[in-house]
Amino acid sequence: MASFASSRLCVRALETLCLLPSRNLFVRKKTTAVTTFVRTKSSRSPVISGLGISFQENEGCRTLSTQHPGPGSVSVPQYETIDPYALTEDDLKIVHHDIRQELLRNTSSEELQRISTYYFDGQGKSIRPMIVLLMSRALNYHMNHKSGLTRSQVNMAMVTEMIHTASLVHDDVIDSSDFRRGKPSINAIWSQKKVAMAGDFIIAVVSKILANMKNCDVTSTIAQALSDLVQGEFMQLGSKETENERFAHYLTKTYRKTASLMANSLKSRSK
Ligand code: FPP
Ligand code: MG
Repeated sequence: MASFASSRLCVRALETLCLLPSRNLFVRKKTTAVTTFVRTKSSRSPVISGLGISFQENEGCRTLSTQHPGPGSVSVPQYETIDPYALTEDDLKIVHHDIRQELLRNTSSEELQRISTYYFDGQGKSIRPMIVLLMSRALNYHMNHKSGLTRSQVNMAMVTEMIHTASLVHDDVIDSSDFRRGKPSINAIWSQKKVAMAGDFIIAVVSKILANMKNCDVTSTIAQALSDLVQGEFMQLGSKETENERFAHYLTKTYRKTASLMANSLKSRSK
């Protein structure tokens, strides 16, 4: 069911791409089979090549056809596979260590220390700090020919992981979860009241880290991501009447709940 729903969403997303006005059309040749989109301005019958996907107009009905690339179809350059975790492994160890230290040194309550550090055991996927670290190193290299990280870049990686984890702490209470990151979820061990306050405490420590960075643009960008997270979660409680409204609601909810923190952390990193 989930895969049926997601393939329908993919079709709708591709369809939406094909309906964009011509000024928004783009030619983006990427290096992998998954992300190769080529669309030309002049095409009346939209074609996304590289994936072998096209739409045909037939008496007002649009159908999507796909064709697996075979011999003689678009050739996709082969690139060496790079493991982003291998590139950031040492940096992520520092990020996880420093997060724990920040939480521990900001309270003398041993119980609050235990609850607030419970999910920071290095077992999460760490996608958000990883992309901040990768972007930081890439920009440092591009702008200064140095790839070393600055303290504020490490702080940004910490902030994004802490906000994400605090939102999961609250989410686990909302969803009455049982399991997270390979162990019993936080609400299965401590009371809802304590867990909610531990989530708040993580956000309070994030506020201190941001305040110490003394950069108003960064603070306001991250505040926007926080506001989006809460609104995205709130939107999830509602629904819409028509399919079109539901799809628009789904896209906005997903941007706010997931994409905004990633985008705004990367934006902050560049400030
Ligand atoms: C996981 O969703 C939840 C989120 C990505 C965001 C949750 C946001 C809040 C609870 C708002 C409060 C925010 C802060 C910063 C305190 P899911 O339930 O779909 O995923 P899951 O299966 O991992 O639980
Ligand atoms: Mg959940």
